[in-house]
Amino acid sequence: ELSPIDTAKFVAAKQACEYVESGMKVGLGTGSTAAWLVQCLGELVRDEGLKIQGVPTSSRTAKLARDVGIDVITLDEAKWLDVTIDGADEYDSELCLIKGGGGAHLQEKVVATASDRMIVIADASKKVDTLGAFPLPIEVLQFGARTTEELVVETLRNMDVLGRDVSLRMAGDAPFITDEGNFIFDLHLKRIGNPRQMSLALNQIPGVVENGLFIDICDVVVVGHASGQVDVRD
Ligand code: A5P
Repeated sequence: ELSPIDTAKFVAAKQACEYVESGMKVGLGTGSTAAWLVQCLGELVRDEGLKIQGVPTSSRTAKLARDVGIDVITLDEAKWLDVTIDGADEYDSELCLIKGGGGAHLQEKVVATASDRMIVIADASKKVDTLGAFPLPIEVLQFGARTTEELVVETLRNMDVLGRDVSLRMAGDAPFITDEGNFIFDLHLKRIGNPRQMSLALNQIPGVVENGLFIDICDVVVVGHASGQVDVRD
């Protein structure tokens, strides 16, 4: 028996499997919603003869994909993907996203950008009028991280936001380290007035590897509800 939130995630994931056909190379997202997708695809591979190659967006997803029987290849082996299916922390009416709550937005963005289509799967709680209530993650080099933080704070001074706190993401007593060996700063902006400008400004800072805003990348959001109903936005 699934909880209401898991039901919403599961039905979205299940519906998104419709975008996947045999012969496709598929980007596999990271997070609790994407984990349902990987499970569903694994079931189709095992029981229905679906033949796909999966490119995971994190070490976590790579392990899960192998465990459920999906043929896992690297992005460089695939070069280009038919579709990527991933979760999100927030999406707005233009299908702009905040991602990276799970710390994997760098690989997720590289993989989604290398795909003909990006499908987001989400429960209805991820929909927002304006992005930014969820802290915006930015992946930064460990080298000079404190200097990078200063430059981020400086950059935020000129931006249309409601909050400007920056925190180093921790894993217990030590900084959280991404799959690429970097740190993450979470930017507590509360409201991002201009996501495009924000994304460009942050990525201008040399120590910033990538921010968690996905703009003009997502094509479709499949929204699951606890009732089992699914809406599709594109
Ligand atoms: C991972 O880095 C994130 O981008 C996830 O896609 C995001 O945090 C969504 O996760 P949930 O599906 O667990 O909410």
